[in-house]
Amino acid sequence: MPLITLGIESSCDETGIALYQMGRGLLAHALYTQVAMHNEYGGVVPELASRDHVRRVIPLVRQVMREADVSLDQINVIAYTQGPGLGGALLVGASIANALAYALDIPTIGIHHLEGHLLSPLLSDPAPEFPFVALLVSGGHTQLMRVDGVGLYTLLGETLDDAAGEAFDKSAKLLGLSYPGGPALAKLAALGRPGLYKLPRPMLHSGELDFSFSGLKTAVMTLVKQSNNDEQTRADIACAVQEAIVDVLAHKARAALAQTGLNQLVVAGGVGANQLLRSRLTEGIGKRGGKVFYPDLEFCTDNGAMIAFAGALRLEQQQGKKDYRFNVKPRWNLAEI
Ligand code: KG4
Ligand code: ZN
Repeated sequence: MPLITLGIESSCDETGIALYQMGRGLLAHALYTQVAMHNEYGGVVPELASRDHVRRVIPLVRQVMREADVSLDQINVIAYTQGPGLGGALLVGASIANALAYALDIPTIGIHHLEGHLLSPLLSDPAPEFPFVALLVSGGHTQLMRVDGVGLYTLLGETLDDAAGEAFDKSAKLLGLSYPGGPALAKLAALGRPGLYKLPRPMLHSGELDFSFSGLKTAVMTLVKQSNNDEQTRADIACAVQEAIVDVLAHKARAALAQTGLNQLVVAGGVGANQLLRSRLTEGIGKRGGKVFYPDLEFCTDNGAMIAFAGALRLEQQQGKKDYRFNVKPRWNLAEI
């Protein structure tokens, strides 16, 4: 019988739990988002996040077991997000994973959160084949990676300051939108008129694959201060912000394919849910004979399925551990694993 992996994700403001079995696929998954709780504060409050993960993990594990009709003694291994992320939040997932595994006498495996995102498009059909270029765009990271196989990741370029999701979130805040800003800004941008405002696109033609987004929020701040801030103007500015971010991401992603000579692009991380980014990439890369792969929308943002899945793939290469000593890695470079 192929192994059944329980996945636990708790790196930020979402508790994600899933059961995955090689050959059969995803058996069940569940997600609890803390967005409403943090919304009041305009961003994630780490201590509140940790406390809420404590409340959610076990009930969600019970829920996915019920849905998949899997009992505790059928679980063979537990994969959990070891980093990067919020230290306290990571510790909740890691300690529950190790305590449960100890009680069941089964191994655990610590997973890099971005590896989860990176491999999540392989859960979809059609799935990309190695090698491919991955554009990782989340609230904390913006990276272009060359992926030659599970664990074989080469960094091609990354942001020198803010992440793309952060640029969405900070601009959204300046426009008075609620957290998380990305989806709210995209929604407002749909009412805006394209081309009315021109925002900077730093490093667009630098010839490198690195990004820089911190100048954008300064430019947005200036625009917001100078404008009369009526609903239409805010929508027009939102439209310009989205255009600028998407323009840079699409340009660099195309350049990465050209530079590596590869023709498959995988887009992962929360910003990958952005519809304008999706259509720009599909169109621009399709024209050049390339193909773009996206995780299903529910697996774009943080989720437990990607952690269970990455754990199952990793187990084909390395053993899980049964010593139950663990440490979390709030800062952890993907290229190091
Ligand atoms: O991957 P993710 O769920 O969590 C991190 O690991 O950071 O990504 C969250 C980020 C946030 O910055 C959020 O604003 C952004 O993804 N995001 C979007 C959209 N949906 C989520 N940004 C732009 N457009 C969207 N539709
Ligand atoms: Zn993430």
